[in-house]
Amino acid sequence: MYSEKVLDHFQNPRNVGKIDDADGIGEIGSAQCGDIMKIYIKVDENEVITDLKFQTYGCGAAVASSSVASTMLIGKSIDEALKFKNRDALVALGGLPTEKVHCSVLAEDAIRAAIWDYSQKTGKKFEGLKNYEPDTSH
Ligand code: FES
Repeated sequence: MYSEKVLDHFQNPRNVGKIDDADGIGEIGSAQCGDIMKIYIKVDENEVITDLKFQTYGCGAAVASSSVASTMLIGKSIDEALKFKNRDALVALGGLPTEKVHCSVLAEDAIRAAIWDYSQKTGKKFEGLKNYEPDTSH
């Protein structure tokens, strides 16, 4: 039911944890299942994400999606990271069962929330956040 890639990222998740002096923190709760994901980012003076850590209080598919997303996002510019979609994680993982696709959306939403937090703290504006409404429902 799960690809080898999913099992690998679930069993050995990359970049799990917390960054104490994070430049941006995003926390998102899933409307479908109530699970929570938190992403911390460090951003350098060139607007490049130099470090990213995540904490997922969710299922294995959410852990695997955030793990693979973290490996894809470290080293990306903020503008590139804002284009990250859950389907990018799905492709990298070799797919997820249909009923688990919503779990991968948490990673997409949490990275946007972390960048939004970064933009609030620094006063910087990013094209990809133009119509972004932070989710304050959790
Ligand atoms: Fe909640 Fe997967 S069931 S994140």
